Amino acid sequence: MSAASQKTRVLTGITTTGTPHLGNYVGAIKPAIAASQDPSVQSYYFLADLHALIKCQDPQRVQESRLEIAATWLALGLDTDNAIFYRQSDIPEIPELTWMLSCVCAKGLMNRAHAYKAAVAENEAAGNQDPDKGITMGLFGYPVLMAADILMFNAHRVPVGRDQIQHIEMARDMGGRFNHLYKGDFFTLPEAVVDDEVAVLNGLDGRKMSKSYNNTIPLFVAEKKLLKLVRKIKTNSLEPGEPKEPEGCTLFQIYAAFATRDEHEAMRLEYANGIGWGEVKNRLFELLDAQLREPRERYQALMEDPGHIESVLRKGAERARAEAAPFMDRLRHAVGLGRFV
Ligand code: TRP
Repeated sequence: MSAASQKTRVLTGITTTGTPHLGNYVGAIKPAIAASQDPSVQSYYFLADLHALIKCQDPQRVQESRLEIAATWLALGLDTDNAIFYRQSDIPEIPELTWMLSCVCAKGLMNRAHAYKAAVAENEAAGNQDPDKGITMGLFGYPVLMAADILMFNAHRVPVGRDQIQHIEMARDMGGRFNHLYKGDFFTLPEAVVDDEVAVLNGLDGRKMSKSYNNTIPLFVAEKKLLKLVRKIKTNSLEPGEPKEPEGCTLFQIYAAFATRDEHEAMRLEYANGIGWGEVKNRLFELLDAQLREPRERYQALMEDPGHIESVLRKGAERARAEAAPFMDRLRHAVGLGRFV
């Protein structure tokens, strides 16, 4: 066994439909980059661009988002000699495995997938005669594609948000069925890793920061725009001099996610002492800008050099396929699709 195969394999995908925001950074990108530096881990991070087609049929948006997300991870210091960083759509073995898994996956299992169930519930609430109105096979089979992503590389651990736990369970189910049916230990059964320590940031309006609420602060907006957005964050109407409650305050929460422990505690004291909202906003802007300035410059340089990003991703795809292609051969054999000679 090679040294690489003894490492814990950690894999996660990022759907390429949006522009990375502060919430993505704190909740996913930062911990993932830190985790990839652990020498006992082999990480696989990929742009889930086949998944993007389920939600977004605007080609320009998909294309732009793939470039932005790749540039973001590189600008923030992902070491691609260490982590295997690739585009899902560069690995043709993934859709092939998706098909094999579709053929062992019970349809009833997919009926219970929450993205599908939510879409059906919406149709029912709207009084539509057809509960499947507007639902594509892409949406319905989404967890199968995700299972292929994970099982293809025999990931042990899959860091995800809570909403994705069900999909990891489904991947275990499909992997287990395949192993049983074709009598072999083909697939490692993955575990979801949900980190309760990482903050889920609130957005401009105080709800969870999310593209679907249109309340995000993009990670690499220009300085002026960053200041403008920070000033837009909703507060209550307490005046300067009045003590303020840090818990549940969006400004405090974002500040805490970026500050050192000491800065964070100092700000808590300032709240008790009645710091004004305008001043909190200035301090938050300063803190964010100081941390984001350098990666922002790297990001802008990367966005102007798509050729470089393309070559990094192709190298990642080559490394990924060096594992996926021989594994797929073995799977073809297992199901009766091997070569004749
Ligand atoms: N579905 C995930 C999300 O929306 C993204 C994703 C696609 C993924 N394939 C994956 C995450 C495989 C982990 C592993 O967040």
